[in-house]
Amino acid sequence: MNQTVLITGCSSGFGKLAAQAFHRKGWNVAATMRSPEKETELVDADRMLVLKLDVTDTASVAAAFAATRAHFGPVGVVVNNAGYGGHGLFEQASDEDVRAMFETNVFGPMNVMREALPEMRAAGGGAIVNVTSMAGHLGLPGNAVYSASKHAMIGLTEAMALEYKPLGVRIYSVAPGAYPTTRFGANTDKRVEQGDAQLVDLSTRLRAQITAVGEQMATRGGSLADPQEVVDLIFQCVRGEAPIHNPSGSDADMLIGMMGQDKRQAFLDQLEAMLIPAAAASR
Ligand SMILES: NC(=O)c1ccc[n+]([C@@H]2O[C@H](COP(=O)([O-])OP(=O)(O)OC[C@H]3O[C@@H](n4cnc5c(N)ncnc54)[C@H](OP(=O)(O)O)[C@@H]3O)[C@@H](O)[C@H]2O)c1
Repeated sequence: MNQTVLITGCSSGFGKLAAQAFHRKGWNVAATMRSPEKETELVDADRMLVLKLDVTDTASVAAAFAATRAHFGPVGVVVNNAGYGGHGLFEQASDEDVRAMFETNVFGPMNVMREALPEMRAAGGGAIVNVTSMAGHLGLPGNAVYSASKHAMIGLTEAMALEYKPLGVRIYSVAPGAYPTTRFGANTDKRVEQGDAQLVDLSTRLRAQITAVGEQMATRGGSLADPQEVVDLIFQCVRGEAPIHNPSGSDADMLIGMMGQDKRQAFLDQLEAMLIPAAAASR
């Protein structure tokens, strides 16, 4: 497989860590972000290209892929990482808030995959890793809209993983539990203070409870889970050593296990045997 990776949302968190890890391992890295002019840690270097890409802007997606191709050749791996979360009850999100979250968390990764897939099919293979969430496997109270967006990505990833298997394109979900990344969750937390007193009261108490339980479940050896765990799972996917669904972290493992979702791959294997042709014709 071509050793060029394009990663979205590299200004912080898992995206930045992944860009640095792929680069250390000798890959050509297109580290994309909305505001490359503000970036100080990732810089253009041998095998590292820092590019502007807003997942909600199809022209910027196309331009980043074109620049990557011109510099490194075809993209072999995509890490669809950009996204955002935030606490708040359903009524505390306006229609505009909901649509904005789906634009970034769902339609954004679709824009990126639409650009990547023809090239991967032409090359006879590739890998796409969608960074989803534990909240995409279970309906997380106080995070309903975020949960809905990540459920959409889990369903999309699962169906596409089966659809594209005969074409040699491997598609995965890595679903993190709670990790202390730079700004995760902070950007929409003001929603908790919106609406009438009843909503604010419930939402505030729910956030406190979820944060306390979440931190307890995600803490190992006295400190919060290491975001590097997510990057390690991304590499397992890229190496072809992972199932379609990859919960990350003890909290995600525990909750998804309690729901019986750890058996999902066995079901998908049966579905694949029933539905999916062995190999598809070349283009
Ligand atoms: N940390 C966790 O506990 C956790 C748990 C489950 C899932 N996740 C998922 O992990 C992924 C990465 O989050 P993180 O924890 O690393 O948080 P983070 O540090 O806040 O990083 C999010 C990244 O996404 C970028 N982004 C947001 N909107 C974008 C857009 N329209 N186009 C391109 N980039 C955009 C941000 O860029 P800007 O700098 O421009 O804002 C930032 O680089 C997300 O999909 C998130 O849902 C995180």
